[in-house]
Amino acid sequence: MSSAALLFLCLAVVLVAAATVHDEHSQCLDNPPDLSLRGVEAGKVVDDLPGGFRAYVTGPSMSIRAIVLASDVYGFEAPILRNIADKVAATGYYVVVPDFFHGDPYNDSKILSEWIKSHSPVTAAQDAKPLLASLRNEGKSIGVGGYCWGGKFAAEIAKTDDTEVVVLSHPAYVTVDDMKEVKWPIEILGAQNDTITPQEQVRQFEQELRERMDIEYFVKIFPRVAHGFACRYNTTDPFAVKSAEKALAYMLDWFHKYL
Ligand SMILES: *[C@@H]1O[C@H](CO)[C@@H](O)[C@H](O)[C@H]1NC(C)=O
Ligand SMILES: *[C@@H]1O[C@H](CO)[C@@H](O)[C@H](O)[C@H]1NC(C)=O
Ligand SMILES: *[C@@H]1O[C@H](CO)[C@@H](O)[C@H](O)[C@H]1NC(C)=O
Repeated sequence: MSSAALLFLCLAVVLVAAATVHDEHSQCLDNPPDLSLRGVEAGKVVDDLPGGFRAYVTGPSMSIRAIVLASDVYGFEAPILRNIADKVAATGYYVVVPDFFHGDPYNDSKILSEWIKSHSPVTAAQDAKPLLASLRNEGKSIGVGGYCWGGKFAAEIAKTDDTEVVVLSHPAYVTVDDMKEVKWPIEILGAQNDTITPQEQVRQFEQELRERMDIEYFVKIFPRVAHGFACRYNTTDPFAVKSAEKALAYMLDWFHKYL
């Protein structure tokens, strides 16, 4: 091998290593769920939903209003997410938290940029169609709330007739172009310190929605919190808890208004 080729190879190795390090420091992976924090859960896991989904379901199954919560990359087992689902259910909704990763959520033995290739939120939005159709066939109207990865899922669903209203909390992978295709009232809850979807980008989403004039939207940037603040936070930090509670209240208000 020529020395130039060798140099190139070394450079490539360094670049790949740098990319991996960057990946590990992604805010998408901060504050991973602590499964030991699992408390009393009001719902249960069912494993035979249309589309072949397992899901955590909670709340009155006879309700004519359903909320589908789409998790972050850590999946539907996260205790805080299930607690949020129970709180949403307590206001009268039937809540479904699908295992979009079919038992293979991200964990720290994986590389996010590799894992995401076989766990695309765009593909998941397609795969979820039978699940959403079955809720619809039961006479339910449907809202979708998504966190991080689930924010992109919610944005994709918002382009279809599979929902009536969506809320994106600190989304990942969402683009301004997505905002051009949204068909339903959309709320976006961003974070001042989000490095995945920085507040400037959230403002671009807002600008796009404003210019369209045909979509109900609400955008809020939460101060002094980072990506993940609504569903992965330090449960002993009062400010973090308060911010997450506020995000939940905003999400509920949006669902109450449009469902
Ligand atoms: C990480 O995921 C792999 C593949 O799903 C699984 O075999 C492994 O047990 C997981 N590790 C942890 C710590 O959960
Ligand atoms: C947010 O960013 C500010 C300024 O960079 C920093 O001082 C603060 O610690 C950050 N807070 C969080 C929760 O990331
Ligand atoms: C969580 O918050 C508490 C109280 O603010 C703080 O003492 C602790 O260091 C925080 N833990 C982490 C992992 O940041």
